[in-house]
Amino acid sequence: QGDPRLKAISEAIRVVPHFPKPGIMFQDITTLLLDHKAFKDTVDIFVDRYRDMGISVVAGVEARGFMFGPSIALAIGAKFVPLRKPRKLPGEVISESYVLEYGKDCLEMHVGAVQPGERALVIDDLVATGGTLSAAIRLLERAGAHVVECACVVGLREVKGQHELNGKPLYILVEPR
Ligand code: PRP
Repeated sequence: QGDPRLKAISEAIRVVPHFPKPGIMFQDITTLLLDHKAFKDTVDIFVDRYRDMGISVVAGVEARGFMFGPSIALAIGAKFVPLRKPRKLPGEVISESYVLEYGKDCLEMHVGAVQPGERALVIDDLVATGGTLSAAIRLLERAGAHVVECACVVGLREVKGQHELNGKPLYILVEPR
């Protein structure tokens, strides 16, 4: 892809070695949020891609999907639905657990937030194994939504176990540095 904005977006993401554990090269998008142009370009690229796709739901994954999802939702005329870690949402929820490197975690969504037949976009900052996005897809599909695509700022082009994304397309802006 020849979009000149992508290089600046990639360079605005700070890489922190050995965080939160030895061996992990943490991709810190908080420095992207500090750079107004890079932050706006990031949101604009997603908005340009999704504005005419009939999307009525943008679902953001806690915590860093919340930093991009609402701006995209407002710009494309969709609602924003937070997919949260367990025991954070006060209403009735549906839950999907997923496997982590060590142990497991879970995402929850409010019942009634999404109606059957709605077209949804899932947003997160980063995809690694795809386990988190896969749980997000399952939540939306259980609610009867059609997941049009998953979008992340950072990810490997060849996500390990693509099948974990349940056959849904994955759109990534930049690769990890
Ligand atoms: C990170 C990241 C994604 C997920 C990707 O979140 O923001 O949500 O991991 O990993 P995967 O593709 O292997 O599932 P984290 O679990 O650190 O939670 P947080 O954003 O609440 O800190």
